[in-house]
Amino acid sequence: MNDQLRRAPAPDLLPRFVQIVGDKYAVTDAQTLAPHLIEGRGLYQGRSSLMLRPGSTQEVAAILKLANETKTAVVPQGGNTGLVGGQIPFDGELILSLTRLDKIREVDAASNTITVEAGVVLQRAQQAAEAAGRLFPLSLGSEGSCTIGGNLSTNAGGTGALAYGIARELVVGVEVVLADGRVMHLLRKLKKDNTGYDLRHIFVGAEGTLGIITAAVLKLFPRPRAVETAFIGLPSPAAAVKLLNLAQARVSGTVTGFELMARGIIDFALKHGHGNRDPLAGQHAWYVLLEVSSQQDKGLREEVEHFLADAVEQGLVEDATIAASLDQTKAFWHMRHTLTEVQKPEGGSIKHDVSVPVAAVPDFIAEASAAVIALIPGSRPVPFGHVGDGNIHFNVSQPIGADKDAFLARWVEVNNVVDKIVLKYHGSISAEHGIGTLKRDSLVKVKDPVALALMRDFKKMLDPNGILNPGKVL
Ligand code: FAD
Ligand code: LAC
Ligand code: ZN
Repeated sequence: MNDQLRRAPAPDLLPRFVQIVGDKYAVTDAQTLAPHLIEGRGLYQGRSSLMLRPGSTQEVAAILKLANETKTAVVPQGGNTGLVGGQIPFDGELILSLTRLDKIREVDAASNTITVEAGVVLQRAQQAAEAAGRLFPLSLGSEGSCTIGGNLSTNAGGTGALAYGIARELVVGVEVVLADGRVMHLLRKLKKDNTGYDLRHIFVGAEGTLGIITAAVLKLFPRPRAVETAFIGLPSPAAAVKLLNLAQARVSGTVTGFELMARGIIDFALKHGHGNRDPLAGQHAWYVLLEVSSQQDKGLREEVEHFLADAVEQGLVEDATIAASLDQTKAFWHMRHTLTEVQKPEGGSIKHDVSVPVAAVPDFIAEASAAVIALIPGSRPVPFGHVGDGNIHFNVSQPIGADKDAFLARWVEVNNVVDKIVLKYHGSISAEHGIGTLKRDSLVKVKDPVALALMRDFKKMLDPNGILNPGKVL
């Protein structure tokens, strides 16, 4: 990183930064800043004395131009729901909040696109699509507060990725402000545009280190005419993988959700979540939340019933219930979406957001669980996640009654054990949350050295003064 970079803005520059957005949108009081300096699970505490809230792409451009000329660091922030510390200013950096860029510029139903600014909350984009009779399928537990800019910058995955793709696959066009303040206008609605290098994807998943995304054109889909949602109890992750393959082969609709959960995490949800109920009469070692969607408005429920009955006969399913109402469907998804939250009251939790080939998920879970328990007897792996994408949140809760800080002090040690098994299966140590601060040291150990060198070259070319989110990713 450039030696001359100033992490905290120089005092004499403050009025110039403030002037760009106006006093009203330059936040300096500690109380208002406080929630922007911590992340939800309390893993990171940052510090900063200035947050700028620009109201237009031009204001973002003016801020970056001044930051670049004065070698002042900038930490972009959307909804502050990121799970790898990418949005936290650790050394007094200026926070660039994108939340005032909150216009839905256009919904073009005929072209199946929506054009939104970076600060639009994901749920609002979903609702705007719905109002136009379309589906915007990105869906995360944080959708009520995360923003499109954050979603694209982290290349978020979520529960719909299985059928509709990860954030990268949903981006048709982008508008990006570069480190020097130039604006790159690629807000096209085109599927086909082979006019040279496809630059939009460099900024997707870059976690604010290469440029600031100010707007995007996103892909929409027809709304399914029928959706069936089932909570399924099964004996093992191996049964879950077989069930997924069977569902994809057998059901004429599309499998649009397939979430695996260990009983342990269901127990946490029942104990600590609001309004959660045990979905099945008995207890099962593993659960799947299955969603199937179809453009046929009749017959899907019967098909899912038959398919589940066959799966019971084959020994893949022990018990299952299909949601009988919209309320029950919502309750199933509510429980799934609270799984991050409900780990907190159980004390320390060491996280892994990893992916392996789908077929390797059962072996990965078995080996990682055994290895972690051998390392820390009494520790409680509570894996869950997007098994259809091979993406498991292999989270490990502390032994009951253990000291939380002492457990969390073993974070890297536990990561190393789990990551070794991930690599054995040619997997990824960061499936959907990104690198941020959390996995920066691990990245250099696992990334192909040529790819890593190229990443550093990109960073130098696009941000020669190193002002954009310094210390994150690289
Ligand atoms: P922030 O947290 O504010 O920022 C994230 C990163 O993007 C930071 O590096 C930041 O600097 C950068 N950034 C933000 N906006 C911009 C911009 N406009 N231009 C450039 N850089 C920018 N993630 C998943 O992938 N799948 C899940 O299923 C999922 N579930 C979650 C459930 C819960 C309960 C929670 C709390 C989080 C979950 N997440 C999940 C993680 C998180 O919600 C996503 O990473 C989300 O995309 C972050 O959006 P945000 O607006 O909060 O971004
Ligand atoms: C989820 C987050 C942790 O899938 O990615 O709930
Ligand atoms: Zn996830």
